[in-house]
Amino acid sequence: MSFPENSRVFIGVDFGTTHTGAAFIRPGEVLKVISSWPTLKGNHLDTRVPSRMAYAAENPHSLRDVCGFQITPNMTTISWIKLALDPSMLNRIRDGLSGHDNWADSVGIYRQPEGRDHVRIITDILTYICKRVNKALQLYNLECYPKTVAFTHPATWSAEAIAATRQAAADAGFGNEQEDDIVMISEPQAALSAILIDPGCAQCFLQPDDGVIVCDLGGGTADIASYSIYQKKGQPPIQLTAHTEPLAGSTAIDRGFYKLASENLIQEFDNLGLEERAPGGSLMTDFESVKCEFKGAMDGESRQLAYSRNGRHSQVKLSQHDIHRLFYPIITNICHCLSTQISEANRIAQAPIITKISLTGGFANSSFLVAAIRRRFENTHLRVYRPDRPHDLVAKGAAILAKDSFSREKISFRHYGVGLELPTAVGDLMEMSNDRNGVAGDGATREDIYWFLAKGEHYQVDSTKTPWLGFQLHQDLPCAVVHVYDSEVDDKPRTVTEKGVRRIGQVIFDFTPILESGWQSIGQELRIQVTITLGQSKIDFEGWYGPLPVGSAHVEMFPPQRVSADSGM
Ligand SMILES: Nc1ncnc2c1ncn2[C@@H]1O[C@H](COP(=O)(O)OP(=O)(O)OP(=O)(O)O)[C@@H](O)[C@H]1O
Ligand SMILES: [Mg+2]
Repeated sequence: MSFPENSRVFIGVDFGTTHTGAAFIRPGEVLKVISSWPTLKGNHLDTRVPSRMAYAAENPHSLRDVCGFQITPNMTTISWIKLALDPSMLNRIRDGLSGHDNWADSVGIYRQPEGRDHVRIITDILTYICKRVNKALQLYNLECYPKTVAFTHPATWSAEAIAATRQAAADAGFGNEQEDDIVMISEPQAALSAILIDPGCAQCFLQPDDGVIVCDLGGGTADIASYSIYQKKGQPPIQLTAHTEPLAGSTAIDRGFYKLASENLIQEFDNLGLEERAPGGSLMTDFESVKCEFKGAMDGESRQLAYSRNGRHSQVKLSQHDIHRLFYPIITNICHCLSTQISEANRIAQAPIITKISLTGGFANSSFLVAAIRRRFENTHLRVYRPDRPHDLVAKGAAILAKDSFSREKISFRHYGVGLELPTAVGDLMEMSNDRNGVAGDGATREDIYWFLAKGEHYQVDSTKTPWLGFQLHQDLPCAVVHVYDSEVDDKPRTVTEKGVRRIGQVIFDFTPILESGWQSIGQELRIQVTITLGQSKIDFEGWYGPLPVGSAHVEMFPPQRVSADSGM
């Protein structure tokens, strides 16, 4: 089927720790946020759907696996599964949740029923999202159009976690047609691209050469990144710093309430049914309203929250003072992270360039939180901006970036290269050449990098480079690992140990088919032809020995930034 020029749909998916949203841009430039999600009986009107899954195997009264708004409060569920993809994040969350075990159980954090792996559970959640997106596209007869889908991830996600998210998205049915494409972008970067076109801020908020902090306050994490914008016309904002604060999302307040209820307010609280104390349960739904409506008044009346036990209805009182105490630690933490990121960004820019703070994510709907952050920075030159519907910004921005990414002519923001830092058991590097650097001579070491794409180089999307790599067939393990590196340093670093070099992926070449074919034997030299295809936001590698494929992999090309993201410790 052929489509008129420019007939492509651009989809943004903000797969959040607690909620997910999606938006798309149809031909003709109309941006639409999906605003209803399937329940078991119909639709629920909301732009965010819970990122939760419940399997029939664990819920005998459920006829099938269900997700999002199809889940009822009494079900055993799995949630927060997105953060499990990053092992360092997983450990920090586990540490941070110690003492909150019952809350974590009621939410279903990181559960892996029947040993399902995390990517599989995420695939199941994204399948529900994908079906809904396709249904929305059907309404406009767009379901068969080629699609570019942008998926978001936290600002400090590891390359492995990004690759796993992409895999889950593809397995769920996103970007599966030949002309489709998936791009991966960070949450604050997506939020910034939506802020930059937001009519409320475009004129008055961000000015050329401004530095801005984007703070995406979600349910699980606070994702904070700083950017300098409009350095040169047409150049995307440059990321200066990035930080993910693991447990600084709005659910920190829920955990505080859960603890307070369990220790002080409700006897035998942990024995209440899930239909009361799980998200969406009646007590937690009442608390959600109290939390969302809280404006900070100390003198207001106490709030009554309803719950029932064994059919008997009761109420519990929460004073304004109690609510204040639940907000304080989290607000202090967010303000501290903001101050640190501002100082760090100014240090990197070598000038006090940060003048604006933009708050996005569901938690940025809290008037109390926003007022507190404004108060914290009121005697400085910093201005705090909270766009309308801050919870939709990341999904919208992802759709915008999906569109931006679809240009065939690109400029590389980094050098990209390969290195063969091989364990001795694998085999020795004999020699290696590529079509620009020439042959690596006897002086080459295991730490040398062979750059195949230079910073500032112009290239066409889907163009290829075809260097060859030389290996020796080794008897112990007939395979080789090729590491992929990038660097933003202007002068190409020579070795992997130099500053500014990052390992962003690997390609494993398996030489067993060559041995089995009898074409070569142990100890002989192999010349592997490598096809490197430069994509919209990834690089595909394929290795060939004559007609025999020996391995392939794809590696993310990350958006521009001045320094590597910290891990948020
Ligand atoms: N007015 C409000 N006050 C406080 N919290 C709010 C308010 N409105 C929404 N929230 C909270 O926002 C959270 C959801 O935000 P969002 O959808 O941005 O999170 P997420 O994207 O799933 O999380 P993350 O970005 O950490 O992965 C929920 O915990 C919800 O309680
Ligand atoms: Mg989010």
